[in-house]
Amino acid sequence: MAIRKENKKSEKLWGGRFEEATAATVEAFTASIHYDSRLYRYDIAGSKAHATMLAANGLLSKEELASIVDGLSAIETRIDEGSFSFKRELEDIHMNIEKALIDDIGAAGAKLHSGRSRNDQIALDLRLYLREQCDRFIDLLDDVRRAFVVLARNYLGHIMPGYTHLQRAQPVLISHHLLAYYEMFGRDRERLVDCRKRINILPLGAAAMAGTGLPIDRQHVADLLGFDGVSANSMDTSGDRDFAIEFVSSCTLIQLHLSRLSEELVLWSSQEFSFVAIADKFCTGSSIMPQKKNPDIPELIRGKTGRVTGSLMSLIVLVKGLPLTYNRDLQEDKEPVFDAVDTVSASLAIMAELLANLSFRIDRMEEATRTGFMTATDLADYLVLHNVPFREAHGIVGRAVAVCIDKGCELTDLTLDEIREFSPVIDKDVFEVLSVDGSVNSRISTGGTASVRVEEAVLAAEKQMGIGE
Ligand code: ARG
Repeated sequence: MAIRKENKKSEKLWGGRFEEATAATVEAFTASIHYDSRLYRYDIAGSKAHATMLAANGLLSKEELASIVDGLSAIETRIDEGSFSFKRELEDIHMNIEKALIDDIGAAGAKLHSGRSRNDQIALDLRLYLREQCDRFIDLLDDVRRAFVVLARNYLGHIMPGYTHLQRAQPVLISHHLLAYYEMFGRDRERLVDCRKRINILPLGAAAMAGTGLPIDRQHVADLLGFDGVSANSMDTSGDRDFAIEFVSSCTLIQLHLSRLSEELVLWSSQEFSFVAIADKFCTGSSIMPQKKNPDIPELIRGKTGRVTGSLMSLIVLVKGLPLTYNRDLQEDKEPVFDAVDTVSASLAIMAELLANLSFRIDRMEEATRTGFMTATDLADYLVLHNVPFREAHGIVGRAVAVCIDKGCELTDLTLDEIREFSPVIDKDVFEVLSVDGSVNSRISTGGTASVRVEEAVLAAEKQMGIGE
């Protein structure tokens, strides 16, 4: 049997079976180091844990382990300091680090890859990275939620129009509107807490996809890296990216919520609404129109929702047609994940700051509740309490509104006699019912906008966020 000469044309860690050097175009096309270098810390932490386990199971000597751990630490320092040179021909973060280790420490470094594959290694790196991002995002969400609670406390008692179809619907407390976002971002937080559970399962040990015959101890690695458990099926583990899709899907919902909030801020800061003022330092001007003060921050957040949703779509379509197990396609998962992380975290951080620089024009908001028949439903409910069937009541109030529109007045401008023409059950206590304050404070159902309910909600939120303790 002819023994092949060592392939001197290549410094590739997988170069053994190749006779030719890889084409430069192929190297350029297949490389991921220009973006996966971001994972170096997790790759190194994973390798240290793997090596520790190998040593505990007789696959590395104590000296070899020490040399690997020190070598990896030195590489990490070089990357931190920017003096490490990443090589495109070494494809990805795993091989860049492993090759540097072998160059630095020799034979021991070449033993590190025992019992693992880049397939389970990349799954490990991505899980470690996303686990950290879950924790970071939870903190960022909490900053935004805290900002809402502070605003809700500050504006307690003030009224604004609540909208459906962007038409004035019923008066509500400003704080009630603000706490709606507190709830939305609270659900986003729960989703991340839940998603983290599925991220925090050790994939290492799946090796290429079938597991390994070497005597490894996966639970040992899981313990070292703080995983809650080890994955159950090596084939599933090797090709699974559900956890990344789940994370980016949670990111997309966060960005959707930010986008809806942004839309309201854009509307509310317009001259037409003039409900809020965004601090100057959070706005920008126009290069041609000297009078302009533009709400660019919420506009950009709203705009970035497209790319976050795009990242989610990329991941979903990426996985859609893949046969088990690992396929190189999966290398395409990193950029959408990173872009979603960067975009959503930056949006959350700046939104928290913006909210702290936001003031409400309570005079304008209150004034807007005075027109638009916002207490018409209250009149219908009043009739219901006087035994008029709701559908009939609805018709009666509708006719009253139509008359007011003709007259160019509000329901409260009608005299008692005029209003009684629509129904004899109406008495003078109707004017309290038609008042904006009366309307708001009548809505005492759980989750309603009455002051008592909203005060409870603000208190509960403050308690949850540890405010005022
Ligand atoms: N860079 C690869 C990725 O991101 C790592 C795994 C490569 N595995 C392989 N057999 N080529 O998915």
